[in-house]
This record gives sequence, C-alpha cells and structure tokens, in this order.
Amino acid sequence: MRILGIETSCDETGIAIYDEQKGLLAEALYSQISLHADYGGVVPELASRDHVRRIIPLIQQVMKEAQCQPDEIDGIAYTAGPGLMGALMVGAAVGRSLAWTWKCPSIGIHHMEGHLLAPMLEENKPDLPFLALLVSGGHTLLVDVTAIGQYKIIGESLDDAVGEAFDKTAKMLGLSYPGGPIISELAKQGATDRYQFPRPMVNRPGLDMSFSGLKTFVLNTWTESDQSDQTKADIAYAFQEAVVDTLTIKCKRALKQTGYQQLVIAGGVSANQQLRKRLIELAQAASLEVFYPRPQYCTDNGVMIAYAGLLRLKAGEQDGEGFETIPRWPLGDLKRVGSL
Ligand code: KG4
Ligand code: ZN
Repeated sequence: MRILGIETSCDETGIAIYDEQKGLLAEALYSQISLHADYGGVVPELASRDHVRRIIPLIQQVMKEAQCQPDEIDGIAYTAGPGLMGALMVGAAVGRSLAWTWKCPSIGIHHMEGHLLAPMLEENKPDLPFLALLVSGGHTLLVDVTAIGQYKIIGESLDDAVGEAFDKTAKMLGLSYPGGPIISELAKQGATDRYQFPRPMVNRPGLDMSFSGLKTFVLNTWTESDQSDQTKADIAYAFQEAVVDTLTIKCKRALKQTGYQQLVIAGGVSANQQLRKRLIELAQAASLEVFYPRPQYCTDNGVMIAYAGLLRLKAGEQDGEGFETIPRWPLGDLKRVGSL
C-alpha cells in the first residue's frame, strides 16, 4: 500500500509518499517561519493563504521525486485536526479532491497521532504498550498507549502547552519565532547558578502540568533585570531547566504509575537536546528505554501523517461522504486500530 500524506495544520506544508514495503519514497516540507517571524507567532489567515500557494507544487514535486503515477497511490491521508481551521481546510480539501479524482480512499488523521507514531519511522521502535510524552506548540500530553488508536490521556497541561511557553518566553525576551530552538541555543551561554525558576505542580500529586505561571515568572525576572544579553541567556537557561525538570519529574511519575518500560517522546519540543538528555538519563537509571523521532520528524511533517494514514487505511478505515475538519479534537476520542 502506498500513501500520500498531507500536513497543513499550522505553519508547515508537509507532503510525503510512504510505501508499506519500501518505506519513505519522497517528502517535501515548506516552513512558513519567515512569514510569521515579525508577528512573534502564527497568523492564521496568512498561514492558510500560504498553504494554498504551496500545496499543489509540493505534491507535484514529491510525485516526481518518487517517480509515482496517480494510479500507484492507494490512499491519501491528510491532517483533519486539531489545528487552525483555515489551514486544515486547505489540506483536507486538496486531499479529498485528489482522492476523488484518483479514485482512491482518503482518511483524516489526528495531528497528535501523527506525532505519537513518528518514532515508528526509526530503526529503533517501541513495542506496545508504552508511555508517550507529546510536547508541541499546542499540546502537552502524557498518554498511556495500549494499542494504535487507543490513547488514554493520563496527564496534560492545564494551561499553556510547553512549546507555547517556549514561544511566549522568546517573545518576551525580544527573540524571534519559533522560540524553542532559539531559547535552547541561547541557554548554552546561560549561567547555571544565577536564577532558579519554579517547577510548577511537581509537589502536588498527579500528572497534570501548568506552564503559564513560569511564563509570568520569566516576565517579572526580565522586567526587573538589567536586560543585558547575558541576562537573556541566563533566563533562557533557567526557563529551560525548569521546563525540562518538570517534564522529567512527571514522566518518572507516569512510568511508575503505568509500570511501563518504554517511553516515547514526540512533537516539536522533543527536538530539545536538554529534554532528550534528561529523559535518556532517567531511563538509564531505571533500566527503561526511550524512543524519539529524528529531529526533522519531531516538528510537523507529512511523513508522520502518511504513516498514520497507512495504519488506518490498512485497517479498513476511510472517510465517508462528508467533509469535516476538527480544529478541537481530543486525542482520547480516537478509535482503536489494532496492534503494530
Ligand atoms: O510539533 P510542532 O512542530 O507543531 C505543533 O504541533 O505545534 O511543534 C512546534 C513547537 C514550537 O512551539 C517550537 O518552539 C517548539 O515546538 N520547538 C522546540 C524546539 N524545536 C521546536 N522547543 C524546544 N526546543 C526545541 N529544540
Ligand atoms: Zn505538530
């Protein structure tokens, strides 16, 4: 089975062709970062318009690169949600129309299921069941994964997502978007002993998290400081440490609670080197295993959507007649597909 994957939920147009036997045949990604940089975040209307501009040329490009004819595509998977309504509509409309023209089935994919399955694209993959920490610009979830499609949310952020906290912190410090990679780079120059930021909700039982207070802490620290470049780096360091520490503590607790031996980390923030390092250390100390995607599959891409689509279409699922995008869509609402 050969699947064309389309991702347009936010500010990246991601297209890929994934073949069940041969693996990834071709992929293309257009990032709108420069388009939104001046605004310090994604502007939804600009995002949708740019997806409209990019999507068809990118599909033509991957079809050519994969030397693939339309009749060799067995299904089309597109991100149906969660995400920005206008942006989702572009991918869904193109995906559904192509499927209709090429006479193949289509399937709407949950963006976070795409992220969750991205580590499966690597040599070293987890077996079911496992614990997943999904950390992106819109979500911070601890998920008990017992089967593909059977996702129980056992912990989540009650306010800002981790990626959002990185982005907002960067904005407050006058840095550009997306904040995650910039903060983590800057943190390397930060003093390790100047600031100590709070680790939110670690002293309370349970697996829920909160990052908006940390953001306020950053703002107050920055406003009351000399606002020098060194202070900026020191704050970046202290902020990242607080986030990484909090996530590590919650993962440790969730692993204990589930009794699972495997931890998956995915989503944009899983590209963070410090977070990976700390979770690998945690795993080594407890004889557990950690799995994560290569950096380019941590952030949004079409490959993870094609792969999730392959699993769902292979299991006999496909879109009905209706046309639906779901901007707000709890991951726990998905249907079980089966085992890997
Ligand atoms: O998964 P993703 O590409 O898009 C969403 O589904 O939201 O995640 C984007 C988020 C942004 O908030 C970005 O700042 C963050 O991931 N991010 C990082 C790093 N790379 C991307 N955060 C921390 N460290 C990084 N290296
Ligand atoms: Zn994402």
